[in-house]
Amino acid sequence: MYRTHSNGELRATHINEEVTLAGWTQKTRNKGFMIWVDLRDRHGMTQLIFDEERTPKDVMDLASSLGREFVIQVSGTVIERESKNPNMPTGDIEILVKELKVLNESLTPPFTIEDDTDGGEDLRMKYRYLDIRRKPVRDNLIFRHKVTMAVRNYLSAQEFVEVETPYLIKSTPEGARDFVVPSRMNAGQFYALPQSPQTFKQLLMVGGMDKYFQIVKCFRDEDLRADRQPEFTQIDCEMAFVEQEDILNTFEGLTRHLLKELNNVEVGEFPRMTYDEAMHRFGNDKPDIRFGMEFGHLNKVAQHKDFNVFNSAESVIGIAVPGGNNYSRKEIDKLIDWVKRPQVGALGMVYCRCNDDGTYKSSVDKFYDQEDLAKWAEVTGAKAGDLICVLSGDTRKVQAQLSALRMELAERLGLRKPNEFAPLWVIDFPLLEWDEETERYHAMHHPFTSPKPGQMELLKTHPGDVKANAYDLVLNGNEIGGGSIRIHDKEIQAKMFDYLGFSEEEAKAQFGFLMDAFQYGAPPHGGIAFGLDRLVAILGGQETIRDFIAFPKNNAGRDVMIDAPANIDEAQLDELHLKVEISEE
Ligand code: AMO
Repeated sequence: MYRTHSNGELRATHINEEVTLAGWTQKTRNKGFMIWVDLRDRHGMTQLIFDEERTPKDVMDLASSLGREFVIQVSGTVIERESKNPNMPTGDIEILVKELKVLNESLTPPFTIEDDTDGGEDLRMKYRYLDIRRKPVRDNLIFRHKVTMAVRNYLSAQEFVEVETPYLIKSTPEGARDFVVPSRMNAGQFYALPQSPQTFKQLLMVGGMDKYFQIVKCFRDEDLRADRQPEFTQIDCEMAFVEQEDILNTFEGLTRHLLKELNNVEVGEFPRMTYDEAMHRFGNDKPDIRFGMEFGHLNKVAQHKDFNVFNSAESVIGIAVPGGNNYSRKEIDKLIDWVKRPQVGALGMVYCRCNDDGTYKSSVDKFYDQEDLAKWAEVTGAKAGDLICVLSGDTRKVQAQLSALRMELAERLGLRKPNEFAPLWVIDFPLLEWDEETERYHAMHHPFTSPKPGQMELLKTHPGDVKANAYDLVLNGNEIGGGSIRIHDKEIQAKMFDYLGFSEEEAKAQFGFLMDAFQYGAPPHGGIAFGLDRLVAILGGQETIRDFIAFPKNNAGRDVMIDAPANIDEAQLDELHLKVEISEE
């Protein structure tokens, strides 16, 4: 037997017991006559003590030769600690060691394996297996496990069945590029890895599975950010014989259950907001509603003077920054530089200080008097001591820029509290979205989403106005899930493909199987998929999903530990029919 107890287990009640422990040596303090070693495993840490007077000499010698991260096994007696550590669950006791065995030595690790490490991000990614020994990383992975267990138990109790769908498939359009896999047996042909199991879950509904879920890997070749990985996990769900209301209620139930189970937080009914309202009030389809700073629409009260920048703008919008009048001129200039960064892209920012004596001082005093500025304050909800920040230009651009500023300022002001949870349904998304590059409309969610009843006709005349039975679940300003009620009628689906610019042949080649299935009694159906990585990160009080993935990719999509992607040899290329002749110039 390697061990009688784990390193997180022993308490004062075990005093005088003979035990055997195993684990990694974290820290050693050697006073010559006395050596202390912190022994770590997944379960915790236990202090070992080697004492010249009570420990055999050979064991004492071996103990003094222990390096960091050695794997050892010890046997000894649980004794009461002289100086107790109330911050450690095992802090009342220590093990007086009698026997010591080195099970494996270790090179000196490239960074310290403690809660606060000296290792940079790159180094820790390269030695991820060492990083996982650190408690914060380990705790995140265990937290993820708890979330998935809670999801499985909850959905299973609601009669959802987990069904696996294939990874080697044909393209499923979710708006990103596909990762493709060459086929050895079918020269020149490729599988696509699923961007989601969308078509398969719809086929499962045709197959009568009724309630499906799957905790499933999805693959998307898109630019990476803190909340995006090229391979990520969805809690993918679909239900038959449902309307939007059924889906919202079912998955509000799941989310509420998770918040209670994992965070011990009770939340009431989730508020709902239409897409149009979210854009109007927050300039964003995933607004963080934990704090105010809502948009004030200033066209009426700012376009009646000689200030051409505002007069020529489609929209003039402002937000009130609580306590912002404290900002120095220099700080405000820095804020202006921030909105002018290419990532945000504003041309400039007008501001107005709301003084404690009820007067106003703006950067455009030449054009606006106190009465005008008082109206700005009224519209933005600014109070004495606040700062009003105003951007102007094309509505879509101003919304995006001011929303970015709103989030940045809220972050700086500490208004985005990680242990406060504000879920929100955003509903009635537009069916289509204009794409500047291809100069045509694309499906905003995906081409299987159904328009609101009676709106199919609008497609011809006002395509941009057609609303879909599509919804997102937003948590603390993050899109953690999205779904829709699907089209289940072959004719409507064919019309939709036609509308989205697929020729009949293309639609048949890409989605013929789904259209075929729809001829055999497809039930009305709809569903949703949660981004598990995002959900786990947010419930865990963070926003970087990498920290909750055991072996994540870096921002360039590389796994720096195994060094992938990598070249493959000529023979393999040949076998996959991928050999390219490189012409010599
Ligand atoms: P959607 O594309 O909205 O919908 O994806 C669902 C959820 O998956 C998460 N997500 C990601 N997480 C990490 N990295 C990524 N690259 C990434 N991309 C998406 C988000 C998102 O809300 N088939 C539809 C669902 C449906 O209609 O039922 C779908 O995939 O949290």
